[in-house]
Amino acid sequence: MVLIGSIDQGTSSTRFFIFESDTAQVLFHHQIELKQSFPHNGWVEMDPKELLSTTQECIEVTCKKLVESGKSLSDVKAVGVTNQRETSIVWDKVTGEPLFNAIVWLDARTADLAEQLTKKTPNNNKDHFRSIAGLPIHPYFSALKVKWMIDNVPEVKNAVDQDRALFGNVDSWLIWKLTGGTHVTDVSNASRTLLFDIAKRQWSAELCDFFGVPMGILPKICSSAEVYGSIKDGALKDVVISGCLGDQQSALVGQNCVAAGMAKNTYGTGAFMLCNTGTDMIVSKSGLLTTVAFQLGAEEPVFYALEGSGSIGGTVVRWLRDNLGIINASDDVESLAQLVDTTSGVYFVPCFTGLYTPYWDPKARGTICGLTQFTTKEHIVRAALEASCFQTREMLDAIQQDFGKKLQLLKVDGGMTKNALLMQMQADILGFDVVRANMPEVTGWGAAVAAAIGIGALKVSDYCNRSDTSAQVFHSTSEQHTREEKLKQWKNAVQRSLAWAT
Ligand code: G3P
Repeated sequence: MVLIGSIDQGTSSTRFFIFESDTAQVLFHHQIELKQSFPHNGWVEMDPKELLSTTQECIEVTCKKLVESGKSLSDVKAVGVTNQRETSIVWDKVTGEPLFNAIVWLDARTADLAEQLTKKTPNNNKDHFRSIAGLPIHPYFSALKVKWMIDNVPEVKNAVDQDRALFGNVDSWLIWKLTGGTHVTDVSNASRTLLFDIAKRQWSAELCDFFGVPMGILPKICSSAEVYGSIKDGALKDVVISGCLGDQQSALVGQNCVAAGMAKNTYGTGAFMLCNTGTDMIVSKSGLLTTVAFQLGAEEPVFYALEGSGSIGGTVVRWLRDNLGIINASDDVESLAQLVDTTSGVYFVPCFTGLYTPYWDPKARGTICGLTQFTTKEHIVRAALEASCFQTREMLDAIQQDFGKKLQLLKVDGGMTKNALLMQMQADILGFDVVRANMPEVTGWGAAVAAAIGIGALKVSDYCNRSDTSAQVFHSTSEQHTREEKLKQWKNAVQRSLAWAT
């Protein structure tokens, strides 16, 4: 057994874990909550330097805990990286400085640009590139964010012109900085850029040309499990980075959804449901994304997934805390929502920067419907939780439709899943079992698995055959009639959010 480190750089926080490779047990970890800035309505930015410094601080603090426990740092044999996807950074390869803030996946500043580009496609069709990239033309994906930076940030344009610019998602930025200059990404992250040909597994000249992104600034594409380079300083100096997965794909691996037909939903800042479709690439007809799930080694096959992406998740809890102040701490939502049995007819669609699956409307904005003088903050908090559940239900319906099979259960993980009320509401709105992971840190664990495979400390087949450690099951207690009525009302509320910011 070896120890494996795992960097989990998310939208809300940065974390570092040290796992035991055989048991999936977290020995030590450290977490730092992050700031996001909202310079204009619908814009969301983060500081790339903070993403790096918090990563380094988390590594140092966690390693200190390991050493203080009497264990040796030399037992840490490899590090994996998992990250918020799509979030885009451009930096100067000479100075190593970022040239603009990171434009976060949630950012909707390119909504008009997406419309203009869509009009340039032969049939004014936002799905025109789905057969190549698996994705619609939408502000969510990196291509539009990079194009915006080239068109609007003179420092970025100059660096591109002088061949000094490098682009990366958060994985590439961190790996470049930590290794002192290795510019790579993995297939799962590449598949979120709208610049990647997911069948050929290479950057697409056609897409780069269409979106005006020079191919020379893009990272080299690698598998999700191989040695990319070594950490150049700090407590883990000389330890290799040998695993890399976008955070949702990492959770899929961490949940052991390694075979076709297995699905998980992660409740993070947003909520993301991925269903492994094996080595088949299914182009969605129901508003899902086709994405690379993982490739666990350069010689291993690429697995694909259908993904339901939801912009609604923990971000609404943070909004209730930071913007409305009706809770003091995130954990208060459960006790508050529990004080009422229902939302009393309130439906809350907290799509602050647009709606994703299945609507893909970047101009949708949040609405609260059904308010009366009877409505209290408890009803609104409960409606905020229900919103995640309805969104998950819509993603699940789309997956079952595209995949052509009924799923038997849904594995769930992520920060919000410790809320047992939310889990029961989710089972009731879905009408079937929700299985909460025993080990809450499955996202970090997935990258650790990839890193262990990358150095040969774990075999892909051995990991696939591991027995499932999923734990608590929440059974649905709802009547079909009731849940379909509620879903209908949710869809009514969604209609009021769509295209609000025209
Ligand atoms: O696609 C965005 C996703 O990767 C962000 O994940 O955990 O920060 O909500 P999270």
